[in-house]
Amino acid sequence: MLRRLDHVGIAVPDAGAALRQLQKVLGLAHLYSEAIPQEGVTAHFLDAKTARLEVLEATRPDSPVARFVAKRKGGLHHVAFAVADIHAEFRRLKDLGFTPLSAEPTRGAAGKYIFFLHPKQTAGILVEFCQEAADASAAASVVLVSSTPCPSLLTRLRRLGTTVVAHDFSTWHDSRQIPAPAHMVLVGGARRDAARVLRSGPKACLSYALHLLDSADMLPVIEHTVPLLISAPDTHQETAVQLCARCPGSTLCILPTDQQVPVRVDPAALAQVLAGHFRAAAT
Ligand code: CO
Repeated sequence: MLRRLDHVGIAVPDAGAALRQLQKVLGLAHLYSEAIPQEGVTAHFLDAKTARLEVLEATRPDSPVARFVAKRKGGLHHVAFAVADIHAEFRRLKDLGFTPLSAEPTRGAAGKYIFFLHPKQTAGILVEFCQEAADASAAASVVLVSSTPCPSLLTRLRRLGTTVVAHDFSTWHDSRQIPAPAHMVLVGGARRDAARVLRSGPKACLSYALHLLDSADMLPVIEHTVPLLISAPDTHQETAVQLCARCPGSTLCILPTDQQVPVRVDPAALAQVLAGHFRAAAT
């Protein structure tokens, strides 16, 4: 069953220029950006009130978005509809003779399940169907270890139906403090503190998300046999890209910062990115 228009995808050769243009013309707020390695793109989401705009820039020359841009110079790429049950929708359309572009729904941005129908069958428009992944993450707790209290982020994570246990770096002792199963989120913290937490607790966790960690040098302490999410404010983009390159298979999210206060990331944007990460890690 169709729920609503979810987003409109636009493919561009230069996302930075496109974001500046769209923000200037329409004043759209940048929600967050996410690298999607399996699709060979980085997706930048803008809040267009009743739906979102997804600005797509290719990260490798053989990705579908790179081919689209090479052929058509970019522009409207796809229209995405949110559905209540993505697997039921997939079966229904197959039974009607439509040909989805994947063998089954796959994971897209923010951990959503997605699939596409070929434009030949949908009036010339590439149509995406998407669904928030079933909240398998709700059963898992989140251990949030931060250098400063994050009341707003805590509230938002709890609103997702997640149990959150909050610690300060100074009150963290060892992995016995992790309720199982759990995702671990580190926000801020000096390299020494973050390394200590990661050494004391890693194997008990379903996934790790690192946000605002200040040094690439700490990466060797992580045994990332589980999904790793590295998020960073746009002011720290360069370091974050380096970190990500050293952790194959990890996901990188760049979040917009409040320009008045350079490293203050919107907690709603961080909560949204983390929610997608927990869901993807839980299945
Ligand atoms: Co899309």
